[in-house]
Amino acid sequence: MKHFLNLIDVPRDALAELLAEAVRLKGAHARGIPTRSLAGKVVALVFEKPSLRTRVSFESGVAQLGGTALYLPGNEVGLGWRESHADFARTIGQYVDALVLRVFRHDTVEGVARASSIPVVNGLSDLSHPCQVLADLLTVQELFGSVEGRTVAFVGDGNNVARSLAVGCSRLGAKFVLACPVGYGFDDGFREKYKARVSPCFPPEVNDAAAAVRTADVIYTDVWTSMGQEAEREERLKRFESFQVNAALLAKAPPHCKVLHCLPAHRGEEITDDVLDGPASAVFQQAGNRLHTQKAVLEWLMKG
Ligand code: CP
Ligand code: NVA
Repeated sequence: MKHFLNLIDVPRDALAELLAEAVRLKGAHARGIPTRSLAGKVVALVFEKPSLRTRVSFESGVAQLGGTALYLPGNEVGLGWRESHADFARTIGQYVDALVLRVFRHDTVEGVARASSIPVVNGLSDLSHPCQVLADLLTVQELFGSVEGRTVAFVGDGNNVARSLAVGCSRLGAKFVLACPVGYGFDDGFREKYKARVSPCFPPEVNDAAAAVRTADVIYTDVWTSMGQEAEREERLKRFESFQVNAALLAKAPPHCKVLHCLPAHRGEEITDDVLDGPASAVFQQAGNRLHTQKAVLEWLMKG
């Protein structure tokens, strides 16, 4: 059974195929040409954490492809505590045709996928956010013509989004650099997996945001405190203070540099209003692309 849990499992050609289909779907949608590739299919969304973009773009995307989406709050389903991951998967797989999960622990998506007879999509876990990065890659492609050869500087926490972005960039031939405070870089587990399955050249980590953006085509940032880390918020606010994406940092990047953020943003923390709303920002184009890339993922999974 094909799943979409981690970009590390998606080969370069499949990634390119997904982006090409997203471009096609986006064009068809803009021209009002209907695509009914999910006619008669039901997709269930089980979310343990809040969401705007992921939930609504999946629900709308499924509807636009002729299918039906079903939202199930995680606290009602009780993955792993009301019943086991396997019992959940074996039951729901008889009612619906695909699953999108947003979870606290990546083990949950893995556990469900292992027992699942239907495709499972990771709609964000503590480890990765592959759906986000597909939209990010499409946005970079739209902005620069291709992802290959670009330099992406991620300024912030070495988190779920950063891990997936590092993998996506490498797969498509972009350079990736992480600028973060000491102790907030990529973990050893990710480093080992990346070296074994993506590239022996692990992306560089620097502790100086200005140095990281000097040659960047794209500056990317995300919240300093991810969902599930709220207890660390005060400490993180202090540690990340010099990693804010603001006008002074942007001025150190090349003039053509664009700014991306997966959203939701904590305005005034990791990014300032003037940058987020300014001419370098492609953040809302990026958010819009979630719809088209996820439709491509669902089609790709459903066709076998
Ligand atoms: N970027 C993103 O996944 O947004 P949501 O948390 O609103 O889904
Ligand atoms: N790193 C953030 C991404 C939100 C879309 C989080 O996990 O909360």
